[in-house]
Amino acid sequence: MKYEPFRLERYFAEYEFSINRQLSSSDCESISLNTLFDLLDYEEKKEFMNMTFGYTESSGSIRLREEIANLYSGFTPDEIFVAAPEECIYLTLNSLFEKGDRIVVLSPIYQSLVEIPRAAGCEVVMWPLLNREGNWEIDIDFLKKTIREKPVRAILLNFPHNPTGFMPSSEDYRELVDIARKNNIFIFSDEMYWLLEHDYREPLPSMCTVYEDSVSLFGMSKSFGLPGLRIGWIATKKKDLYSKVAHLKDYTTICSSAPSEHLARIALRHRDFFIGRSRDIIRSNIDYAVGVFEDLENILEWNEPSGSSVAFPAFKGNIRASDVSRDLVKGHDLLMLPGKLFDYDDRYFRLGLGRKNFKDALYAFKKYLESRYG
Ligand SMILES: Cc1ncc(COP(=O)(O)O)c(C=O)c1O
Repeated sequence: MKYEPFRLERYFAEYEFSINRQLSSSDCESISLNTLFDLLDYEEKKEFMNMTFGYTESSGSIRLREEIANLYSGFTPDEIFVAAPEECIYLTLNSLFEKGDRIVVLSPIYQSLVEIPRAAGCEVVMWPLLNREGNWEIDIDFLKKTIREKPVRAILLNFPHNPTGFMPSSEDYRELVDIARKNNIFIFSDEMYWLLEHDYREPLPSMCTVYEDSVSLFGMSKSFGLPGLRIGWIATKKKDLYSKVAHLKDYTTICSSAPSEHLARIALRHRDFFIGRSRDIIRSNIDYAVGVFEDLENILEWNEPSGSSVAFPAFKGNIRASDVSRDLVKGHDLLMLPGKLFDYDDRYFRLGLGRKNFKDALYAFKKYLESRYG
């Protein structure tokens, strides 16, 4: 096989649907079709009932792309390309990279963002996020040094970041763009957790609106809580990249699902409801988690997230997250993702803060830790 197994997705494939209490889901709570219907006015309902199931435009229906383009100032529908989020990564990275390209990838990272360039024969430099006393940081000096050593073709970013919930300051974000522009470096910006900035933070501007040599990825899976739609998109001003992605999609799904496109368009129109709801759930879960981590301060280390629906805390001492997660799935009906699945230190584990039953899962986790390590 050209690609290494996707550790996290294989782990989920094994346990996600047999374990009831999820500690590490990255998506936000979903809603029923009934709830969605309650949001719609008469015209929208009529339009939904008259929907047909034909093929759609390969790049996404024009009406969906119009709605998406509204999210990005200065963008038109023909600069938006629709596909499932993971498919967008596959199509875009395969269109961008060739053997020998030197690229910098933030670390830890959602595995396909590093695996696809590696399989294409790129020289991949991992750019580690730093953890300074419970706060995540990017190391701009590391990036500058890497660029000085040898030219870099692209940087792959993901803010707000999975799994840490990290977001750079506006100053660091601007400096990153300046460095890329000065050195002629392309930016792939995975923004799947966009609009989930925590209360005290302003959303960062989407990369494609502040840097012309870039592509931004977003979609319905995380912030909107609608991963089952399988609708995502890229936004880019790079026409050559856009055509290559379109070319490749003819060999994956040809076009997206018509009902999903329709529902995504409706959800985008009601985005304040969806995003507000997700943020409320996350805020309440973070408050609860902080309390639990205070109670268990001898065992657990809280690492502050500044956005997204995830956080990446750690165990103290010799406790290994992979041992704990094995124990949890075996006898405690709890699913937790150890840092190892992100090719990272085994003290760390991911928390998923977007689900309504997170508190129940965390409470059970607390009881387990108290009895085992307390
Ligand atoms: C950073 C990041 N990018 C992309 C994806 C892929 O999204 P999807 O599963 O909806 O295809 C995920 C999913 O977890 C993610 O966390």
